Amino acid sequence: MDLIKAADEVRKNAYAPYSGFRVGAALRAASGRVHSGCNVENIAYPEGTCAEAGAIAAMIAAGETSFVEIAVIADGPEPVAPCGGCRQKLLEFADPAATVTMATVAGKSLTMRVAELLPGAFDSSQMGDA
Ligand code: THU
Repeated sequence: MDLIKAADEVRKNAYAPYSGFRVGAALRAASGRVHSGCNVENIAYPEGTCAEAGAIAAMIAAGETSFVEIAVIADGPEPVAPCGGCRQKLLEFADPAATVTMATVAGKSLTMRVAELLPGAFDSSQMGDA
C-alpha cells in the first residue's frame, strides 16, 4: 500500500477546527501492516493530538511495537515536519533504519531517517543503571 496515499486518505478525517491544518499519517509496521492516524484538536488547545501520535496509538492497539516507515502529509507549502514531541514518540518505536516521508498535498516530499530528525535524542543509555 502507498503510504502517502493512506496518509492523505486519513487526513480527510482530521479534526482541526482551531488551526484549520489537517494532517494525516500512515506507518508500515514491521509486520507489513499499515496503521494510520490524523490530528485531533480540542478546545483546550494543549489537549490536541498530532497525526503521528494517532498512527502510533493505532499500531500499539493492534499489538505491534515497531515500524519501518511513516508518511505524514498536510496541505502546507513545504513537506510537513513532525513536531519535537512527535520526533521523540517516533523514535520510541522506529526500526533503526526507519524513514519518515514528509509530504504536501500538492506533491512535494522529503524523506529522512527518524534518527536524523532527532540528533542527540534522550534514550535509555542516559539513565545509567536506573
Ligand atoms: N500537527 C500534526 O498533526 N503533525 C505534525 O507533524 C505537525 C502538526 C498538527 C497539530 C495541530 O493539530 C496542527 O497540526 C497545527 O499545529
